[in-house]
Amino acid sequence: MYLHQKGGRRVKETVCITGASRGLGYELTKLFYVHHYRVFPLVRSITAAENLLNEMPNCHPIIADVAEDTCTDILKSALSAHTDVLDILINNAGIPGIAYQITTVTTQETSALFNVHNLGVIRTVQATLSFLERSAKPRIINVSSRLASLTKTASGEFNEGGFSYSYRMAKAAQNMLTLCLDQELRSKGVHVSSVHPGKINTNCASYDANLEPNEAAKKVFDWCKTAGVHNSGSFVEPGMGGLPW
Ligand SMILES: NC(=O)c1ccc[n+]([C@@H]2O[C@H](COP(=O)([O-])OP(=O)(O)OC[C@H]3O[C@@H](n4cnc5c(N)ncnc54)[C@H](OP(=O)(O)O)[C@@H]3O)[C@@H](O)[C@H]2O)c1
Repeated sequence: MYLHQKGGRRVKETVCITGASRGLGYELTKLFYVHHYRVFPLVRSITAAENLLNEMPNCHPIIADVAEDTCTDILKSALSAHTDVLDILINNAGIPGIAYQITTVTTQETSALFNVHNLGVIRTVQATLSFLERSAKPRIINVSSRLASLTKTASGEFNEGGFSYSYRMAKAAQNMLTLCLDQELRSKGVHVSSVHPGKINTNCASYDANLEPNEAAKKVFDWCKTAGVHNSGSFVEPGMGGLPW
């Protein structure tokens, strides 16, 4: 495991995970914690933060809503209180969409999903970039979806299944954000990638979910350890291989 030298004391890698209250983000938080990473889980409520602290007393929960502009300053100052370096940012917070026919799509739902999946990532990256730039191996992992793939969608792979317009649009835009970030940040040594975590049995699940959150988290956790500038700009399903953009 990569270690930092800080004030003569060896400090393990630091990771910030959004959407840590449940599902994939919660399981990732537990995995990084038990593997002795310094974990900053971002959650939306005091109750969620207290639950994490009861279970993982040495983690550092941050209470913020990635859909709000205030998230940027909250995240920045919460990190500043404990660290000047962040090694891994996992943009996992997400919400599902409902409408799968153009006549029922609402601009409210579409705006809400673009806000969380895209503006949320912009906010967390703006908050954490100066911390990431102080890491020897900085990584930004955006939790995307197979449903983001324009190539797969164009091939007809998702014609059945009643998949939400707003979810697919927001995740596809998030993939573009991954590539924009990679284009800007790779030369500074920052790895940026999009990860499809599998079809997980959670609130964001599709009808064909076949993985439990802890199983998906293990695959993402293992993949995070291999992520570096050499494979920046990738779209992958951990344990399975690359996905077409
Ligand atoms: N499940 C799947 O099959 C699947 C497949 C591909 C990709 N994904 C992606 O994987 C990620 C995790 O989803 P999941 O399946 O674990 O779903 P989940 O169980 O519904 O968890 C979603 C998490 O995101 C948090 N969240 C939602 N809006 C937020 C906001 N505005 N600010 C901060 N946190 C927010 C939720 O917090 P609260 O508890 O406060 O609501 C919760 O912790 C999402 O990005 C999802 O799109 C999931």
